[in-house]
Amino acid sequence: MTVRGWQPGSWREMPIRQVPDYPDQAKLNAMESRLASFPPLVFAGEARRLQQSLAKAGQGRAFVLQGGDCAESFADFRANPIRDTFRVLLQMAVVLTFGGSLPVVKLGRMAGQFAKPRSSDTETVEGTTLPSYRGDIINGPEFTAEARIPDPSRMEFAYMQSAGTLNLLRAFATGGYADLHEVHRWNLGFVQRSPLAERYQDLTARIDETLRFMAACGMSEAPQVRETDFYTSHEALLLPYEQALTRVDSTTDEWYACSAHFLWIGDRTRQPDGAHVEFLRGVKNPLGLKVGPSTDPDELVRLTEILNPENIPGRLTLISRMGASKIADKLPPLLRAVKRAGREVVWISDPMHGNTHTAGTYKTRSFDAILSELRGFFDAHQAEGTWAGGVHVEMTGSDVTECIGGAHKLSEADLSANYATFCDPRLNAEQALELAFLVAEELKARRPDGAALPLLAAQ
Ligand code: PEP
Ligand code: CO
Repeated sequence: MTVRGWQPGSWREMPIRQVPDYPDQAKLNAMESRLASFPPLVFAGEARRLQQSLAKAGQGRAFVLQGGDCAESFADFRANPIRDTFRVLLQMAVVLTFGGSLPVVKLGRMAGQFAKPRSSDTETVEGTTLPSYRGDIINGPEFTAEARIPDPSRMEFAYMQSAGTLNLLRAFATGGYADLHEVHRWNLGFVQRSPLAERYQDLTARIDETLRFMAACGMSEAPQVRETDFYTSHEALLLPYEQALTRVDSTTDEWYACSAHFLWIGDRTRQPDGAHVEFLRGVKNPLGLKVGPSTDPDELVRLTEILNPENIPGRLTLISRMGASKIADKLPPLLRAVKRAGREVVWISDPMHGNTHTAGTYKTRSFDAILSELRGFFDAHQAEGTWAGGVHVEMTGSDVTECIGGAHKLSEADLSANYATFCDPRLNAEQALELAFLVAEELKARRPDGAALPLLAAQ
């Protein structure tokens, strides 16, 4: 069944932003046909299951944790970075589950997060101007004229890397790595040397105790303890790639984007009559929409109607990314407008993208600003009687120095020690875990009913 007036290629008739300038159209067309013949990366049934979990987050019965790299990189396609990021996301999820007494919906910015919107089409270094880097699926990060030419063959490598990453994530999620009995072992590495180690160990000891209690009651074999649901997501920016992986689900006859479970529309490409909104309105996956400070309340309501005309719970997640200094002014009118219009949405906070600044030659973010935006998010929801349903962070499992602040009080002078991102600055493992502890405290403080421990429902 196709959404009215929509086809997988109907976006091509609409104005489009952030589109790469491919010099060789024939090569692009050939790659689109090739990708269209490849197997889908996800199954529509998984996307539907995610949508049901997200619906709970819309109703205040779950919390969303979405995180991963700003941009995945071809150079970093190795097991360890994937495992480390997955592990930190699991650690964060456990902390949030415990603190909030709520199931946590785990969504990686992984296995497909390759295409980047840019604020400028060009980049100038020491008098030389070249096209901007747009993510490894489009061109290369090296500052040479050759690397910056958009190359369709990169889509094939991105597909293969996504398949390999997804395979490992699925293996970890269901093959024993995510078993709650292993929660102590996730503590290996960077976090062990951290001031947070004790807090984390205390938490894992409490989980162990709970599991022993459950075992004593004969409940140890619950599948939620042994494995976890982990979903993938990315910004659906590169529409030729997304269209090529869009397929009809044979069980429902409906169209699904099969490059990931969840796709979002960026803050720069959310025009109601633009190509990106057109493409995503027709696929049945759960969707995200970035909501920045320039968003008009009426336009936001209109977007929720275009993207979710049947008002299905869990279909649409609004990802607020205002900036710490703007959130108190900008978010409440949007919360009110969406609520007044009776639109079903999940609200989550991206406290990263409105809080980027430059320090010397580095783009960075301050942990304090990130936290301040998060508090503003919780405050706004509390005041409006809506549910603060989750967080969206750029983070990595490794020991990078890209954001300042946090328990180790990283300073601007520390940034050069291990600044590895090609795009936006990410929280390192320790900062990400610290953030989870702080969000868990917010959740706990704001829950009216105190703390039951729904471990069974949670993992
Ligand atoms: C991103 O999430 O990496 C991004 C570019 O965000 P935004 O569209 O909110 O700027
Ligand atoms: Co980013």
